[in-house]
This record gives sequence, C-alpha cells and structure tokens, in this order.
Amino acid sequence: MAEPTKFLLSEDAIPTHWVNLLPDLPGEPLPPLNPQTMAPAGPPDLTPIFPMELIGQEVSGEPEIEIPDAVREVYRLWRPTPLFRARRLERALGTTAHIYYKYEGVSPAGSHKPNTAVPQAYANAHAGVKKLTTETGAGQWGSALAFACSLFDLGCEVFMVGSSYDQKPYRRSMMQTWGASVHRSPSTQTASGRANDGSPTGSLGIAISEAVEVAAQNEDCNYALGSVLNHVLLHQTIIGQETIAQMQMAGEEPDVIIGCVGGGSNFGGLTFPWLRRKLHSSGNPSPRGPRFLAVEPAACPTLTKGVYAYDFGDTAGLTPLMPMYTLGHGFVPPPVHAGGLRYHGDAPMVCALLKAGLIEARAYRQNETFAAALQFARSEGIIPAPEPAHAIRAAIDEALAAREAGEERVILFGLCGHGNFDMAAYDAYLAGTLEDLEFSQDDMDAAVAALPEGAPVVA
Ligand SMILES: Cc1ncc(COP(=O)(O)O)c(C=O)c1O
Repeated sequence: MAEPTKFLLSEDAIPTHWVNLLPDLPGEPLPPLNPQTMAPAGPPDLTPIFPMELIGQEVSGEPEIEIPDAVREVYRLWRPTPLFRARRLERALGTTAHIYYKYEGVSPAGSHKPNTAVPQAYANAHAGVKKLTTETGAGQWGSALAFACSLFDLGCEVFMVGSSYDQKPYRRSMMQTWGASVHRSPSTQTASGRANDGSPTGSLGIAISEAVEVAAQNEDCNYALGSVLNHVLLHQTIIGQETIAQMQMAGEEPDVIIGCVGGGSNFGGLTFPWLRRKLHSSGNPSPRGPRFLAVEPAACPTLTKGVYAYDFGDTAGLTPLMPMYTLGHGFVPPPVHAGGLRYHGDAPMVCALLKAGLIEARAYRQNETFAAALQFARSEGIIPAPEPAHAIRAAIDEALAAREAGEERVILFGLCGHGNFDMAAYDAYLAGTLEDLEFSQDDMDAAVAALPEGAPVVA
C-alpha cells in the first residue's frame, strides 16, 4: 500500500479535556493588573464582560479542564481535524525533511477560531447572556463567533477592522448569514470609535475597545475575545492533543513545531500539549523534545521587537493591564494582508514562554510569506490564509536548512485556516503590489513612550 498522506482520527478521539499550561509555566505567573489600583485584577474586574465559567478557566491552576458535553457535541461537526504529510511539498523542495501540517481550515468558518468560539458562546448562553460583542481582524474570528452564537441562540455584534472590512467583503456576508450585525471599525457607534476616526484603516486595539465598551454598558451583553487570554489558548489545546495522537499514527516525533502568532491562540493550541510533554518529558522518546517556533509579520513584530511590559489589551485602555511583549497599545499596524496578525501585543502565556527561552520567535515580510503560500498551494492544493502562510514560510526554510545539513528533520506546522476569502491579498501579490513594510526604531520609541504610566516594569 502507498504511504499515507492523511492521518485521521475517529470522532471518539476528540479530547475530553483541555490542557491548561498555566501550572507548568516557570516561576510565578505575573497577574493581570487593574489599571486604576495597579493591584492584581480579580474576578470582579472581569464580571462586567465575561461569565464566571470563563473567568474560572482564565485563572484556573488545574492542569486539565473538562470539555462540556454540549461543546464536544458541536466539535463533532468538524473534529478531529486531519493531519497531512506534505509529501508533494517535500518533493518540490527536494528536502530530506519530513513535513507535517495540522489543518484547521475544515471548520465551518474555515479556521481554528470556532474551537474557542463554541465554548465561549456555550458558557455565555449557560449564564443567561443574550448577546456577545467582539472585534475581528481577518474576519475569521468574527465569522467563528457568529457561527457559534447562531448555535446557542445568542445575538452577535462584530466590530471589523476597517482595512479587513474593505479587503474581505464576503467575510462580512458570512457573519451576516449566521445572523450577526457587523460594523466597520472605527465606527460612529461608540465613543472609542469616534475618538479614533483619524485612523481610518483601524486596528484590533480600536475594535476591541469598541466591542468592550458596548458589552460593559449593556447588562445582558458580554464580550468575547478570539485570542490572547488564557481561556482562549486553553480551548485551542484540542489541536495539539489530536496532533500528538496523529504523529503517533505516523510513527514520527517532530523536531520542530511551528505556528503563526497574532495573539497566540493557534500557536498555543498546537504547542502547549507538546510543551507539557517536553517539560515533564514522560512518554517522550526524544530526550530534548521539539523546538517551538512562533512566526509573526515584520510589520507587526511583537515577539521579535516588542518590549516586555505591562500594557493595555486595547487602544482606549479599557482592559486590565497584561504582561506581554508589546508595540504599545496605541500602535496602528500598517494594513498588511495578514489581518489576524495585526495585534500590538501577545498572549501573556506565550510571552512568558519566550521570556523563559522555551520557545523561539521569527518575523517575515509579506512578499516572502506569499511566495511560500503560492509554493504550498501549487504543491499541496490548499490555499492558505495569509496568517498561517507565515508558518509555511518558516517550515519551508527549516526544510531547506535540513536539506543543506543533510538531516532528516521532522517539521510540524499549524495550517490554522484556508485563504478562500483572502483572494484580494493573493491578487495584490500576483500583481506585484504588495509592500514589504517593516517596524522602525521610531515606531519602537513611540511605543515605549506610550506605555501606561505607573505600570510596574517587568523583569
Ligand atoms: C486564520 C488565522 N490565523 C491566525 C490568526 C491569529 O490569531 P492567533 O494568534 O490567536 O491564532 C487569526 C486571527 O484572526 C486568523 O484568522
């Protein structure tokens, strides 16, 4: 029989628990802070916009958290997702490396985002909430939440970053099809939007401010975030758990695991179960375990150029302060096509791992990223979203390095979404009009100058 290309699990292999990496992090976790008092932010700081079930998950010290049956039942619509061996890409590269990718684009919304949208919608519906607000960059998260809200009879209001709203009209149509209402951000609906009408292309930070503002002012309305927070990364760990079982089916151990990072949720979801295995080294045949590589755009290089500091999660300063690598909450990234990677900060858990030297980070420019996306699409068929195209660029570079070194490197990367609604980006690349924008020292100086006053310095 020919060697397999896909590694498929049955529905009963859908994980029963999420993996909480918080207790495994080195040292004491740095708490989020209330920006008024600078004291650790607790549940009372979060209850105006989140239900208790999610707050409990956010601060939990338990190593595993059970997935509610109602959530697992929805997961069965598309999970387990396939793991592919990229044999055709390997041949095209003439590499000695073995390349695997975990494909999350088979979900109804086309990315990994429904993995957390569904438990968030479920927890809010369970708590009697009637409507959720959110922001969306690429449109992937907004469509995932619109889909999840439709399953649990919740209203859904989405603030979509202006540049993405213009680039991706059919993402808006998808959200409306699932029953959501969508505003171009900055909008005139909120004070935060009106205060930022000078930034017409918008940013995730501004859109978050708008969505949080609406949720905080309405009793039966909550806010949902598609990345960054501990509970979001927690929900995504079903990706990594499935992948461990699938790599076992393939009979290989990865030497390097790669994911793109916007706020850190698909990267965390793919890597945390592997990181737990590496940190505890039980059941891991390789004494060193895999390397972990987080990849981001050069135009918004939080992990590779940001400062590690307490900063707001949004532009208007409505959220608690979080310890993270940040470009400053006022930074409006250039309108690069990887809309989901245009965030000024990153998940505190991912930042803590980088700070501890447990993961590596790398940044790529748009044109080299799209070159990789095309090479992938022309060998494997799937047209990747611009965000995971960054992970593909890194996977290809690792495979080429393995070829140079004559090594049989095993590479695993997260293909966290398809790009079928991102064709404007591909058009621009094919027309040769994509710009390679980079973050400058002036941008960095402005970022540091704009950090919140009085926030403690992080060592
Ligand atoms: C397809 C896709 N990948 C990646 C991201 C980045 O988010 P995260 O780092 O949380 O996975 C997004 C965000 O919108 C996305 O839509």
